[in-house]
Amino acid sequence: MSAMRSLLFVPGDSEKKLGKIEGVPADVVIIDLEDSVTPEKKIAARGLASEYLSGLDAGERRRIWVRINPVDHPEAGADLAAVMPGNPGGIVLPKTRSPDDVELVGRRIGTYEAEHEIKVGSTRILPVATETPQSLFSLGEYARCGPRLAGLTWGAEDLSAAVGATTAREADGSWTSPYRLVRNLCLFAAHAAGVDAIDTLYANFQDPEGLEASCTEARRDGFSGKLAIHPAQVDVINRAFTPSEEEIRHARRVVELFEANPGAGTLALDGAMLDIPHLKQAQKILDRS
Ligand code: COA
Ligand code: MG
Repeated sequence: MSAMRSLLFVPGDSEKKLGKIEGVPADVVIIDLEDSVTPEKKIAARGLASEYLSGLDAGERRRIWVRINPVDHPEAGADLAAVMPGNPGGIVLPKTRSPDDVELVGRRIGTYEAEHEIKVGSTRILPVATETPQSLFSLGEYARCGPRLAGLTWGAEDLSAAVGATTAREADGSWTSPYRLVRNLCLFAAHAAGVDAIDTLYANFQDPEGLEASCTEARRDGFSGKLAIHPAQVDVINRAFTPSEEEIRHARRVVELFEANPGAGTLALDGAMLDIPHLKQAQKILDRS
């Protein structure tokens, strides 16, 4: 799977917005059947999503993912049945309660893959892993979901509603303490499972500077991509999560220095100490570039 820097949500009930997907350079496009679609429109949206997928060739389908309804929601089964024959690149799973939900959906997906001659295991799963209070207490266990797990992402809105918080934000727009905790747990849980950490969305789509600052902070901390809700956010996100020329140059120098000094655990470069964590960091940057 190539990099998942930008993941753009498109409401599944909007033919107009589905029509824009082709021209948007998002690494992943997530057709949403969950919260952006009202109960009366669920059936129509499912139909549009399936129709959209069937109009694409196999290559184009890799970046089209679908957010189905939560596993314990009555619509979830019908969502999977409708979209799996269209071989989407992955399924976004909202409001997971634990890694068990991912494993359960993984088994169901496997059945559809086998039935529709799709390579078994090729459909990835991205859980929105922090939307229920109980979900926080098994965040460390996602490694057991195996290679279907594409990453972990988080959300504050459903969680804050679930606990009766009046808001998840400080007056300046930053997250309140409980949601900073959740963000940080998601970051470490993803890396504990060996998958990408994907930052939650930036709701104000007319604030590119704020979005960029939020991306810079996320990348600094170890997130490798971010959810998007508007096409205008995609370029900003892609740029922010792509290593700069200067970072790549520096990373190359670090790797070359260690290669030139086999057996050295610590070295000096430009007056600063380098050790193995720096080498790993440099290798990660080169992997992403
Ligand atoms: N995907 C595809 N096209 C989109 C889009 C999206 N997520 N968001 C906006 N567009 C299109 C609009 O249809 C509009 O098209 P037009 O120029 O032909 O009229 C154009 O981009 C500009 O949109 P704009 O007028 O700035 O925004 P809007 O008021 O139409 O829509 C939102 C604002 C927030 C409703 C919309 O961006 C949206 O639906 N986002 C996704 C919401 C979602 O899926 N949420 C679930 C995850 S939390
Ligand atoms: Mg939600």
